[in-house]
Amino acid sequence: MNRVSLFVTLIFAGAGLFGCQGESAPASDAPMARETAPPPMATSVERPVPRPGGGNFENLVADYESKDRVIWQKPGMVISILGELDGKTVADIGAGTGYFAFRLVPRAKKVIGVDIDPRFISFMDSVKVRLPVQYQARFETRLAKTDDPMLKPEEADVAIFVNTYAYISNREQYLKTLAKGLTTGAQVLIIDFKKNSLPVGPSDNFKVSLSQVEKELAAAGFEVANADNEALDYQYIVLATKK
Ligand SMILES: C[S@@+](CC[C@H](N)C(=O)[O-])C[C@H]1O[C@@H](n2cnc3c(N)ncnc32)[C@H](O)[C@@H]1O
Repeated sequence: MNRVSLFVTLIFAGAGLFGCQGESAPASDAPMARETAPPPMATSVERPVPRPGGGNFENLVADYESKDRVIWQKPGMVISILGELDGKTVADIGAGTGYFAFRLVPRAKKVIGVDIDPRFISFMDSVKVRLPVQYQARFETRLAKTDDPMLKPEEADVAIFVNTYAYISNREQYLKTLAKGLTTGAQVLIIDFKKNSLPVGPSDNFKVSLSQVEKELAAAGFEVANADNEALDYQYIVLATKK
């Protein structure tokens, strides 16, 4: 089974998004955790620290799609933070393999998988054609620039950065550019690794602290609605809105 087939199989069978749970139900983390995933500490092996455009692609895909992620990142819970997505366009900035983007497709009007790495754009495009037709129409990829997510003016109602914010340089300016592609009141969700030595994620010196994220969002003109350091063991979750 090639990696795309495996990925689609995992999305359909493992995450239970398109068949088992119906469109409006939040993806459940617990059943997946009980049935298929190894205990979290099984990931304590040294992982490659992914870098934009670099690294062995197969290793990056394996890392982004690792089964233990559903336990420590709780994608269903995370997605539920965004509330009702019906009629909304979501931009997944630094979408990678589409771990979150494809989970959002059944819930949103449209999902844009934004990435600067053409390999991930091709990967997501190859997954898209395996989706049921009604979902294919709701998903598109967007090859972006390092300093610009390449959204059209007021194109998105929601932007998410999962495990990606630390990759952005000149983040305040990036957020200001992003804001032009967002509607007024749009939500921005940022999830990244806490600054502790953790069994998953990059080394501490690559991380951006929660307080730094809040500062940068405020400087770029966003209002921080909630900053949660507790819901996830390894990561903080920041929800902001465009004023
Ligand atoms: C660690 S991966 C996270 C992928 C995905 N969000 C996930 O949670 O599985 C970081 C991703 O961000 C992308 N990336 C890095 N810098 C970026 C930038 N300036 N704009 C958009 N994407 C970027 C990388 O190519 C990579 O796919």
